[in-house]
Amino acid sequence: MECKLRKAEARDVSDILRLVKELAKYEEMEHRVKLTEKELLEDGFGDTPFYHCIISEIQVQNSSDDPKVVGFAMYYFTYDPWVGKQLYLEEFYVMSEYRGLGIGSKILQHLSELAVNMRCTGMMFVVAQNNEPSLQFYKRRGAEDLSQEEGWRLFRFNKHSLVKMATPPEE
Ligand code: ACO
Repeated sequence: MECKLRKAEARDVSDILRLVKELAKYEEMEHRVKLTEKELLEDGFGDTPFYHCIISEIQVQNSSDDPKVVGFAMYYFTYDPWVGKQLYLEEFYVMSEYRGLGIGSKILQHLSELAVNMRCTGMMFVVAQNNEPSLQFYKRRGAEDLSQEEGWRLFRFNKHSLVKMATPPEE
């Protein structure tokens, strides 16, 4: 079995959405995935991509089947006014039957190399508190838990709050 990494292309959106849904299911939040292939296509493969993906695919040796997409990472770049460019790892997932084979480490190595070449000073990501295997996976590789060590808290304005704030108060 040969595993290759490559940059995602427009033709990959159905596999990307499939893996996004699998990760959401793993995190018991599948019902929260509202995105469609159309939006993924427009947002990731237009003139101004809002995200990038690295795809991991395997080719079964001596098989004429197309390679199978078994894992991916979705990322983009952000900016920290104290230290500069950051790579933000939004999604990271390998299908359960292919875990523990080094595919995830290979994806992280690729992203780390990319981040270093782009002169990023760090890689940021959020992990669900109950995702203990993943917390340990990152910690074994030296990740710092900023919620615990620095006390940052994660916030969001949802669409309702945004619309409310965007609407000027009546005179
Ligand atoms: N499943 C998972 N891990 C295993 C397994 C297995 N069946 N068997 C062994 N392991 C160990 C490996 O020995 C290895 O240990 P190490 O950390 O000491 O190297 C580690 O777990 C897995 O390393 P890899 O094989 O390189 O990584 P993998 O291909 O399993 O991918 C990933 C890692 C992406 C975290 C994968 O386990 C996964 O998809 N988990 C479920 C989804 C998830 O939690 N994703 C991250 C969410 S956080 C975010 O997206 C920012």
